[in-house]
Amino acid sequence: MSLAQQRILIIGGSSGMGLASAQQLVRAGADVFIAGRDAARLQAAVQSLGGKAAGIAADCTDPKSLAALMARVGRLDHLVLAAGGTAAWGPFAHTTPEALRRAFDTKLLGYWQSLQAALPILRKDGSVVMLTGAASRVAMNGTAGLAAINGGITQMAQTLARELAPLRVNVISPGLVDTPAYDGMPAEAKAGMFAGAAKSLPVGRVGRSEDIAAAVELLLANTFATGVLLDIDGGARMPL
Ligand SMILES: NC(=O)c1ccc[n+]([C@@H]2O[C@H](COP(=O)([O-])OP(=O)(O)OC[C@H]3O[C@@H](n4cnc5c(N)ncnc54)[C@H](OP(=O)(O)O)[C@@H]3O)[C@@H](O)[C@H]2O)c1
Repeated sequence: MSLAQQRILIIGGSSGMGLASAQQLVRAGADVFIAGRDAARLQAAVQSLGGKAAGIAADCTDPKSLAALMARVGRLDHLVLAAGGTAAWGPFAHTTPEALRRAFDTKLLGYWQSLQAALPILRKDGSVVMLTGAASRVAMNGTAGLAAINGGITQMAQTLARELAPLRVNVISPGLVDTPAYDGMPAEAKAGMFAGAAKSLPVGRVGRSEDIAAAVELLLANTFATGVLLDIDGGARMPL
């Protein structure tokens, strides 16, 4: 199905995979809205899209902010949930309950509340794509928090694909993707982590945001796809 003139909201659309998805969907002729908390970041993202998307500041941890976002958007065919952060990342022994709670608030509860807020304006047979993460698909040191959050979203999405039908609900599980999420890391540590991951993956490289954006477009457009969990992870899940 063509996505031309389809109204699509991407929460977490001002950076990384959300922004690349916006780029892909604008190219497909969709009417794209992107949301994130930081107004300046949003404005820069809209500029990078040649002004062909609308940016609306919103925080997916705040129901009032989400209600205001949906009121501005008015009507939707599809919703993409791509917000996230790195608060739950780190060794189990040192990840505090506060950090984990923050991460759950942003991602699991954030996705939950975003979809609840969007439901009244979302076309009944439209669709939702949620970005989870390979941490819930492969056992890796330092990712227990991410595994819990992304695993929770994956399970909830399967249930919602039945409960909310004919709305289609799909999940993409990205592997390691080079996005601004890693900008806070010291350059050397980041380069080492990426080089190590690239070497271990069958595809020989880490992911690009565009790899995920192509999968987002596929799942939004394919009206026979629901309850799908699509691993776009460079082969990270394959046993050695
Ligand atoms: N990069 C990876 O290797 C990787 C791997 C697996 C899964 N993932 C997941 O994939 C998704 C996208 O990751 P990414 O690397 O593209 O991230 P990113 O570049 O850091 O972008 C995150 C986006 O989420 C927005 N955001 C964060 N908190 C928000 C909130 N409370 N309300 C609304 N928007 C919020 C950010 O904007 P503001 O900060 O301005 O709000 C930004 O637009 C995330 O769910 C992440 O957990 C990433």
